Amino acid sequence: MKLFLDTANVAKVEEIASWGILDGVTTNPSLVAKEEGADFKETVMAMCDLVNEVSAQITTTEFEEMRKQADEYSSWHKNVVVKVPMTVEGLKTLKYCSGKGIATNTTLVFSVPQAVMAAKAGATMISPFVGRLDDLGVDGMDLIADIMEAWSHYGFETQVLVASVRDPEHVVRAAKVGAHIATIPYKVFLQLPQHDLTDKGLKKFMEDWNSIKK
Ligand code: E4P
Repeated sequence: MKLFLDTANVAKVEEIASWGILDGVTTNPSLVAKEEGADFKETVMAMCDLVNEVSAQITTTEFEEMRKQADEYSSWHKNVVVKVPMTVEGLKTLKYCSGKGIATNTTLVFSVPQAVMAAKAGATMISPFVGRLDDLGVDGMDLIADIMEAWSHYGFETQVLVASVRDPEHVVRAAKVGAHIATIPYKVFLQLPQHDLTDKGLKKFMEDWNSIKK
């Protein structure tokens, strides 16, 4: 299972990458807008030096423009993954990119038919947004389970990336259904190595060790 950080903040990528377990980063225009003053290309390139896969989202909606942006982003660094919205124009862009060997991440996936179409267009990854479905009172992780079940019948190479993660339980359920990737916000990432029993156990081990006369 690959773990990605969902952020446009280079310092946060540096911090989590230093743990030695970070596989990639996902950015989106909303995350980029939070990092006021940061240059998008410089941000993406700095992240590409830290991790192997960095999603940079296309910001146009017509195929010709999307194709040009995909070409531009992919020329920045070999680790760039072009993030393409799940629309008909997006499908054309995914097909174009797969023909050129450009890695892609299909964003804003909310249904099994969307997932299947993106896979057929040759997407490297698809990003179903679980948290946004949860917000509507629908269990977002059910969509991931449905997609993984569908995938089990076919030879799709497209990786299923659990996006819009809100808490560690989303990561647990992603792992249990065999999702290939989870992209995790910084605040949730910090919770993942923590367990009260680990802290208590370590405190006791340290106390006992220090009580030994050496
Ligand atoms: C990542 O690729 C997605 O853009 C992100 O996880 C969306 O998260 P949100 O629903 O919390 O905005």
